[in-house]
Amino acid sequence: MKDSLDIIADEVRICKKCDLCKGRTNAVPGEGTPNAQVMFIGEGPGAEEDKQGRPFVGRSGKLLREMIRMVGLKEEEVFIANVVKCRPPGNRDPKPEEIAACRPYLDRQIAVMNPKVMVSLGRHAMERELPGMKISDVHGKSFHRKNGRLYMPLYHPAVALYSPKQKDVLIEDMKKLPKLIQQI
Ligand code: URA
Ligand code: SF4
Repeated sequence: MKDSLDIIADEVRICKKCDLCKGRTNAVPGEGTPNAQVMFIGEGPGAEEDKQGRPFVGRSGKLLREMIRMVGLKEEEVFIANVVKCRPPGNRDPKPEEIAACRPYLDRQIAVMNPKVMVSLGRHAMERELPGMKISDVHGKSFHRKNGRLYMPLYHPAVALYSPKQKDVLIEDMKKLPKLIQQI
């Protein structure tokens, strides 16, 4: 059968491939338009996301969704996913083995959607594409990926919630998005 976002989401909701399944209320497969041009990739669900089973619906999510609108993108034009689909207890960092266990789901979502632009949020999501790099060096820069796709790492919106300076940087980086989309 041809792979699809629905098939992947159904598998994620019952997945037990790593220990994060033990503490979750709901797995968070991701949401958005199947043929979205832009895919945002966060780190993992927080408390509110775990409760609702939807990505970025807490405080960082509110800021992310505001910024998406601010740069002129519609929420319907984007897909929002995470590196791990189940909440790490107490919002700790996801462990490398958890990221590895969950990786095939995100790989498949990217393969099915084939987005023009991929945007990672935060250090853990950046590690996937640019292992060993420092986010302070690469945020807001764009990198070529296969299928003519562009990739841009951004700071995580959670950081911007308590640092106005980081918020300004994040907004400036975010403003580059419409141009990147046009470029392709
Ligand atoms: N932070 C993330 O990285 N992902 C979410 O879905 C929510 C908050
Ligand atoms: Fe499965 Fe990913 Fe959840 Fe781990 S985090 S249980 S690999 S869906």
